[in-house]
Amino acid sequence: MAQKKRIFSGIQPSGDLHLGNWLGAIKNWVSLQDEYECVYCVVDYHAITIPYEADDLRRRTINAVIDLLACGVDPDKSKLFVQSHVPQHTELAWVLACYTSLGDLERMTQFKDKASQHSQHVNAGLFTYPILQAADIAIYRADAVPVGEDQLQHLELAREIVRRFNGRMGGGREILPEAQAIVRAGARVMGLDGDAKMSKSKNNYIGIMEEKDAIWKKLAPAKTDEKRLRKTDPGNPEDCNIWSLHKLFADSEETLDWVRTGCTGASIGCVDCKRRLLENIDAEIAPIRERRKEFAGDMPRVTKILADSAAWCRDEAEITMREVRQALGVR
Ligand code: TRP
Repeated sequence: MAQKKRIFSGIQPSGDLHLGNWLGAIKNWVSLQDEYECVYCVVDYHAITIPYEADDLRRRTINAVIDLLACGVDPDKSKLFVQSHVPQHTELAWVLACYTSLGDLERMTQFKDKASQHSQHVNAGLFTYPILQAADIAIYRADAVPVGEDQLQHLELAREIVRRFNGRMGGGREILPEAQAIVRAGARVMGLDGDAKMSKSKNNYIGIMEEKDAIWKKLAPAKTDEKRLRKTDPGNPEDCNIWSLHKLFADSEETLDWVRTGCTGASIGCVDCKRRLLENIDAEIAPIRERRKEFAGDMPRVTKILADSAAWCRDEAEITMREVRQALGVR
């Protein structure tokens, strides 16, 4: 059997996962597990580039791990580990920093955005963040990286950095491979405000672990077609954010027909429409919520999964680092 290609991807431990993360990234991670050898990482060292509390980071990191397991990242198929448990990531990051141009880093839009959000705390780590990301990928010699559109610029830079390293130190050899991006087919989930992408920071999200009544509290007041003032007014689904969520969560064509006809013909109200959405969202995420309770109630198992993956990752990373150190002339 031909060897499976290897993919690497990372996620920040930014707090509770929401439907945007689920549809935009995690579901994809889960479905890639059979076709590829997957290495998935919770990137805690990336998270320290903005102000935070230590206890909070610890909690967010373990929560992210449990969330991923609950979502279906399967430790029998894939590696799932925490970045700081494998020190070679930061070792390689230093090396790659010496093959990264300042001008390239300055062009990164994520840096510019974050630097303006945290203008009192712009540290060098925030600036060199993409170098650590390049190291994450290269240390496992990954062939490909599933990412969202927003990470394409970092991916391109990662390729540029290893190209420069190989060019200078490889002696004609590709010591570190240039990983391809796998851009996931764009499930861009809008927030409940209907104004911006669903995100933790905008507080316009539905958490993937939220109970049904909590989801309803958020869904009930969520924005719909603003021109539809009364139940008797016909609505236009294309102007309604709830419709865009229906399209992502509908269990069948019939549901979509029911919403479309009911809304445009004013035979259903927005509350009916949202209730149906609630049922479908809950049907998708209830099993995840249940699995989460199982993992959260069995921390020894979670710790063992992390330890086993990290052990494998350290061995694999050390193979790369030996070659890199050799090429650099530091050993
Ligand atoms: N920067 C990525 C994000 O914010 C997270 C990340 C870190 C990552 N290292 C990575 C993604 C390596 C892909 C590959 O989403």
